Amino acid sequence: MSPPVITEPSPKVTTTLREAFDLCVAKTRNNLVPLANSSRTWAFDVDGDYPAWEERFLEIGNWTTSFFTGMGVLAWLDTGDKQFLHDLALIEPRYIAKMEGENAKETMHDLGFLYSLYSVALYKATGESRHRDLGLRAAQVLADRFVPEGDYIRAWGRMDEPDTHYAGLAIIDCMMNLPLLYWASEETGDPRFKEIAIRHSNTTMKAFIRNDDSVYHAYRFDPDGQPKCGDNYCGNFVESHWARGNSWAMYGFAMGYRYTGDPRYLDASLRTTRKFISLLDDEVVPVWDFRLESGMEPYRDSSAAAIAACAIQELETLGKADVDMIRTKKTLLARLISPDYLDGNPVCRGLLKQGEIGDGVGKAKSAYTSWGDYYFMEALGRELGIPITWW
Ligand code: GLY
Repeated sequence: MSPPVITEPSPKVTTTLREAFDLCVAKTRNNLVPLANSSRTWAFDVDGDYPAWEERFLEIGNWTTSFFTGMGVLAWLDTGDKQFLHDLALIEPRYIAKMEGENAKETMHDLGFLYSLYSVALYKATGESRHRDLGLRAAQVLADRFVPEGDYIRAWGRMDEPDTHYAGLAIIDCMMNLPLLYWASEETGDPRFKEIAIRHSNTTMKAFIRNDDSVYHAYRFDPDGQPKCGDNYCGNFVESHWARGNSWAMYGFAMGYRYTGDPRYLDASLRTTRKFISLLDDEVVPVWDFRLESGMEPYRDSSAAAIAACAIQELETLGKADVDMIRTKKTLLARLISPDYLDGNPVCRGLLKQGEIGDGVGKAKSAYTSWGDYYFMEALGRELGIPITWW
């Protein structure tokens, strides 16, 4: 009898956070060079095949490449293997090019995600000043998106195109872009970046968090800066409650509190955290939107779960997480490392299954997501004692 033909390595079932983190390191080791050699960026994919994504790094929509570079820095901090730094450097020319000439106008607010998880992370990891310089340049371009009439950072569209549909639009996700600005003020001594972060946070607190502590995905402002109405691009509908947006608010306001000591930001983080926890069901990983109509597919969002775990860890580090929050964090992580969510197949580039991606308003799909993978690895890293210094 001939032996069975083995076509690919067998999936690994992780039982501990350490094993799950090691799997993240192994997949990151496989991912960085192909990402650097690809003419495209990577974002999400239904089968975890990230190279299938069509967008290029310099396109205005790119906000996801750095989730892979952030994983590279986490892997380097854990292993000390300089190969990770070498591979990360292969991607550097694109980050430089994105801040040059016209390219710097073809951007949106997610420069925070992109450059915190590349330039700031590498500057903090290596002390090399070129990473500091590029991070500061990105912070300047992000600061240029601030609209002083309304005290908010505009989310999308070129700033020199005032008549686009995106004029007057801010989104909750932007709370995660503010650490780049806080860092820039700390680094330069120029208070202007921090002031923009504070003014945007104050606006977000007032406009986005509803009285019942649920969160709008988006908000529109008049040309004179007056708040106009809630809006939606990612959740089910304008007055729905997008789970990932809730997670961005939890984590973004917790970090705002860390940088400013403003108790209103802590309150915003705690309120949205309690709201999130109150809406979880036995599956633990949330449905993608907490306000689905009956008959809608209740897709889960593993990425919202991973981001929420990081937010609770941040509150824990600040000494502000209560017992219920800490219990929820442990349960979320236990669920995410189970084979229902974590893909142990080393051939698959993606880590977390069942992340939510939109296919138009109200149309969710289940996929592997770069951001879910990154925040999952960050959450595991935090539990293992790896210092997260770039936010
Ligand atoms: N920042 C976009 C998203 O969370 O899908």
